[in-house]
Amino acid sequence: MPNAADQRSKSLWMDVDVVPEAPPLGSDRRCDTIIIGSGIAGISTAYELAIEGQQVMIIDRGQIAGGITARTTAHLAPLCDDLTAEMIKLRGEDISRLFYESQVTALDRIEEIQKRENIDCDFRRLDGYLFQAPGTDSKIIDDELDAVRKVGAPVHRLVGVPLAHCDKQHALRYPRQATFHPLKYLKGLAEAITAKGGTFYPHITVQGIQEFDGGPVVVATDHGSVTAKAAVVATNSPIIDRFALHTKMSPYRTYAMAFSIARGALPDALYWDTLDPYHYVRLQPGEGRTDYLIVGGADHKSGEADDAEARFEGLEAWARNLIPAAKDVTHRWSGQVLDTIDYAAFIGRNPGNTNVYVHTGDSGQGMTHGVVGSLINSALILGSDTKWQEVYEPTRKTAAAIGNYLRENLTAVQNFAEYLAPGELGSLDELKPGHGAIVRAGLTKIAAYRDSEGALHARSAACTHVGCHLHWNSFEVCWDCPCHGSQFAVDGTALNAPAISPLAEVKTPK
Ligand SMILES: Cc1cc2nc3c(=O)[nH]c(=O)nc-3n(C[C@H](O)[C@H](O)[C@H](O)COP(=O)(O)OP(=O)(O)OC[C@H]3O[C@@H](n4cnc5c(N)ncnc54)[C@H](O)[C@@H]3O)c2cc1C
Ligand code: FES
Repeated sequence: MPNAADQRSKSLWMDVDVVPEAPPLGSDRRCDTIIIGSGIAGISTAYELAIEGQQVMIIDRGQIAGGITARTTAHLAPLCDDLTAEMIKLRGEDISRLFYESQVTALDRIEEIQKRENIDCDFRRLDGYLFQAPGTDSKIIDDELDAVRKVGAPVHRLVGVPLAHCDKQHALRYPRQATFHPLKYLKGLAEAITAKGGTFYPHITVQGIQEFDGGPVVVATDHGSVTAKAAVVATNSPIIDRFALHTKMSPYRTYAMAFSIARGALPDALYWDTLDPYHYVRLQPGEGRTDYLIVGGADHKSGEADDAEARFEGLEAWARNLIPAAKDVTHRWSGQVLDTIDYAAFIGRNPGNTNVYVHTGDSGQGMTHGVVGSLINSALILGSDTKWQEVYEPTRKTAAAIGNYLRENLTAVQNFAEYLAPGELGSLDELKPGHGAIVRAGLTKIAAYRDSEGALHARSAACTHVGCHLHWNSFEVCWDCPCHGSQFAVDGTALNAPAISPLAEVKTPK
């Protein structure tokens, strides 16, 4: 059977190896700041600290930048992707304005860094179009226009966008959005960090973090421990939290696909519609006269659907209708975003710690959120302040978001009831090659997969984070946890945080 990681989908970016050669963890196990997780959030934070003279170590349990960042579509769009009008309802105008300003600063910072470090990453500024989805009311465009003006964003109201059948659609045009190749950018950033003495350690799993009376932080890994003055947990979904942050956000699976398209067939811009979930579109330079058209959307709560083929069919039909120049499908992939109940990420001191910092809750704009996080957490570590802390404070409680809180946490309550339900199959003998299913064995639920050669892979169906019941994901060939976003390979290996440990072994009935 191919290894667990090989069975998952591949994005358009994944042929770039961000840190091809990394040393093993040696005997020098001290640094100023240890960064756990090497996505956009972790690497950007390491960069901000390294240029200030800090000795940084970056540890990842997979390959460097092989997590959700390798699955992004990298629209760099600073307005709240759940709509600014919605954000103002929950958090008011002042916080929404600060949110917008922080996201703009993050985008400017990416532009500045790629220039300063000479990173060839296809970065470009372009327009973004939010357009009225066919069959919907244009009021949403008017409401959003009012809202984005309140937060001070430049915006133009228009009718018609350069997509087929959209000449009468109401739309907003936002100037100075941007996009890039995410892994080429992170490769350049990693080289700059290495040149400043920072070190990357892939394939090392962090198992726990201990802080001694506001003093040093000791990070336990499966290759021994590391001591640092500070630690940043940038594992996408935080590995150090069981409830405090996880109950304020939910994992959603989102799908993306790339088509080939003749260069110039579509104006180079970002496009997204007003549906919930929304469709999103961008271009990426290809070879010769051919570019890539990237289309995404069709989100659902993680683990609540296993119908990727139907979702890709829907996305493809949507894309071909609006962009008839789309040619062959070249890539199809999926990944997760963590939607917080009030739309902003959680960034800052980890609740209850002094020298442990956290970054999580990307809410579909994790690329700019990752960079905002790098600016806030590096400032806190270096002893200064930013005016955005209140927006992203991890301990915040947003009273107006109580409805979202209750709705999102219903998943966990309903999930535990699944332990009482019968299995999806009567017995393991019914499991066909290439399929996964939950099978009951007495009081135990088994997450079972039969590979193409007929061998059975059976593990406990209880997530090792806080025990939620797993669901099969046939597209990514893995087990998804609907509660907080963990994923496990069919051999039980934890692929996505917050889970650290593999699924427990089980005895299969004879
Ligand atoms: C299909 C798709 C489209 C998207 N489109 C956009 C977009 O257009 N614009 C936008 O802004 N955002 C977008 N996002 C969101 C954005 O890509 C993510 O929010 C962002 O990349 C997350 O970065 P991160 O650094 O937080 O996490 P990651 O990139 O996942 O990095 C976390 C790292 O932590 C490591 N880790 C986990 N546990 C441990 C452990 N115990 N020990 C050591 N290491 C560990 C993981 O291996 C991983 O490499 C999209 C996401 C998807 C899936
Ligand atoms: S991710 Fe929290 S219980 Fe599974």
